[in-house]
Parts: sequence; structure tokens; C-alpha cells
Amino acid sequence: MSLLRPIVVLALSAVCMGYAATVITAPSSNNRPIIGVLSQELSRSLENEWGELNYTSFIAASYVKFLESAGARVVPIKINREMSYYTDVINSINGLLIPGGANFYNTSGYGLAGEILYNLAIDLNNQGDYFPIWGTCLGFELLIYLMAGKDDPRIVCDAWDKADPLDFEIGFNKSKIFSPAPSSVVDILATEPVTANFHRWCVTKELLTEANIVNDIDILATSVDHEGLRYVAAFESKTYPFFAVQFHPEKPAYEWNIREKNIPHTANSIHVSSYFAEFFVNEARKSTHQFPTLEKERSSLIYNYAPTYTGAANKTYDQCYFFTD
Ligand SMILES: *[C@@H]1O[C@H](CO)[C@@H](O)[C@H](O)[C@H]1NC(C)=O
Ligand SMILES: *[C@@H]1O[C@H](CO)[C@@H](O)[C@H](O)[C@H]1NC(C)=O
Ligand SMILES: *[C@@H]1O[C@H](CO)[C@@H](O)[C@H](O)[C@H]1NC(C)=O
Ligand SMILES: *[C@@H]1O[C@H](CO)[C@@H](O)[C@H](O)[C@H]1NC(C)=O
Repeated sequence: MSLLRPIVVLALSAVCMGYAATVITAPSSNNRPIIGVLSQELSRSLENEWGELNYTSFIAASYVKFLESAGARVVPIKINREMSYYTDVINSINGLLIPGGANFYNTSGYGLAGEILYNLAIDLNNQGDYFPIWGTCLGFELLIYLMAGKDDPRIVCDAWDKADPLDFEIGFNKSKIFSPAPSSVVDILATEPVTANFHRWCVTKELLTEANIVNDIDILATSVDHEGLRYVAAFESKTYPFFAVQFHPEKPAYEWNIREKNIPHTANSIHVSSYFAEFFVNEARKSTHQFPTLEKERSSLIYNYAPTYTGAANKTYDQCYFFTD
């Protein structure tokens, strides 16, 4: 069943995108998916501790483990590289995860690389070359900003260290993200505080309407911040295989810092978080991109780096991959 469903979805979306004349056949399922995770500048807190080592970027290891747990391998995507690096990497990987972080404006390497990759992914998908993107937290916000034509519809809010259920929108169960979800996952998400929120920016439905992108996406769920502000918690693009959540499904199983009190670690929070990992890795299985050589694949994988135990210094992340290039 799970193999048949994507074929139907792809065929339908192909018609919606105006490719009715050409039959886009769903690629045979790629069971060796490789997903790129975008790196970013060190946070001030990481810089304070490891700054003298002159690292230029990092990735929290929880995102890597999240994807690996669902059957993908990970390639770190570096910031501040030339265009050819990004075109080479996106043509070698099967999906992109844009993680949470602090700053996405185009003055940051993360924001610039995110914009380049987003535009490349649009081009690929427009050519019928299925390429999915997942945005988490700041990655969610970056996708909104780019979809809005680099107009920032966010407002300041306070959803820091807050565990919440999802309040689903009508029709959410017809979405790509949630239509394959078993009722156990949907029921837990709807009733238990299993999503880990760590954001001080929010977008509301009204702001998305003003930004003129409400017709490009399906808003799938909302949550409320500490002050009772209702904000968008999950959406997917109507046209492209782009998915985003404001919460952190990688945290329940992989982040244990005692500074933060409300990361859910219940069995049910792990169950629903695993669903999101499996969903996105299954999306990546629909891409047939490959590295040009086995050597290039091997030298690109995250396995070439060892994570640092940052949790021992009470940092937000338990383990981080640091990069100097
Ligand atoms: C970091 O950069 C500073 C300034 O350029 C240099 O003095 C120092 O040796 C570098 N540290 C390492 C570990 O490379
Ligand atoms: C960043 O984006 C803004 C708004 O679109 C634009 O005015 C500015 O030139 C951009 N800066 C860079 C460095 O690309
Ligand atoms: C979606 O949910 C609605 C209301 O909860 C229900 O009536 C409908 O049957 C569901 N549709 C699917 C496809 O599960
Ligand atoms: C980390 O936090 C614990 C508990 O508050 C404290 O006892 C410990 O000294 C802190 N360690 C560091 C390296 O800051």
C-alpha cells in the first residue's frame, strides 16, 4: 500500500501542475536515500565555548539521528560555498532538511544557502524531478519567507520550551503529511503535549493571508504560545513536495538537556516523532539522484565527521557536528 500511494499522489500533482500531457512516472522506490542537512553559523553559546577552534558552521546531531532512524544517510551541506557546490550536492541527494536555528536573513550563510537550495529545488520539481524539502522551526520560517518573495511575515511570540498538541485544521487528513498517518499518531498529536516548541517568532493564518501565500500552501495544524497566540504549526506546499513544522520532532528522542524542562520524552512523543522522520525519508525515496561516484558519496557523508558532546557544557544540543570548511 505505502508503495502505491505515492504513485497516485504524484500522478495527481502532475496534472495539477499542468503536466497532464506528459505522464510523470513515479521513480522506482529508492531504498538508499541520502538527505542533505543544511549547516549554519555557530550560535553565540556554542561560539563562547568552541570559538577559539575557528569553526565556521555546525549541525545539531539530533537532526542527523532523526533521519538515520528512518533509514536515510546524511550529507552535511556547508554554507558560504560557490553555486557549483550547491548544484552538485542537490543533484546527488534525495531531499533537503532545513533545521532550526537563530537567523535566516540573507546576510547569514544559512539564509543564503537555504535560498539557493530552495530555488534549485523549485527548478528540479518544475522539470518533473521530484525533490522534497523539510523545514523545522527556523527552516519552517525560512520556507515561508522565501515563498512570500523574501517578505518576512513573522511576529514576535513566546513559544519557548513549550510542549503542545496539534490543533488540526479541517481537511488535514487529506494532506500528504497526514493522510498516511495511522490513527494512533493522529490521536496522540491531537490530544497530548508531544510537540517540542522552541521559537520566539510565529506566523499566523492572518499574516500568511496578508503575505499572499495562503493559496500556495495547506495549513495543516496550529498551536498556541505562552500568551495564547494561535500560530501555524504545520503546513505543506500545494504544488511542491515541501513540508514544514514549527516544532521539533528531532528533539524528543535525541535532546536531553536539563536547561530545557519541557522537551517531551514520553513513549507517545517518540512514536509520533518517528512518524515525521519516516514520512520525510519516504518522500526522499521518490528521488533517484545519486552521487556521481561511490568515492564522492563516501567523502560527502556525515560519517567523515565526529560529533562533539556539547550537552556536557549545558548547551541546548547534546551533540553537534562542527565544520571548518
Ligand atoms: C584560530 O584563529 C586565530 C586567529 O586567526 C589563530 O590565531 C588560531 O591559531 C586559530 N586556532 C586554531 C585552532 O586554528
Ligand atoms: C537581502 O534581501 C533584501 C530583501 O530582498 C535585499 O534588499 C538585499 O539586497 C539582500 N542582500 C543580499 C546580500 O543579498
Ligand atoms: C478526515 O477527518 C474527517 C473529520 O474528522 C472525517 O470525517 C473524514 O472521514 C476523514 N477523511 C479521511 C480521508 O480519513
Ligand atoms: C551545568 O548545569 C548543572 C546544573 O545546573 C551545573 O551543576 C553544572 O555546574 C553546569 N555545568 C557547566 C559546565 O556549566
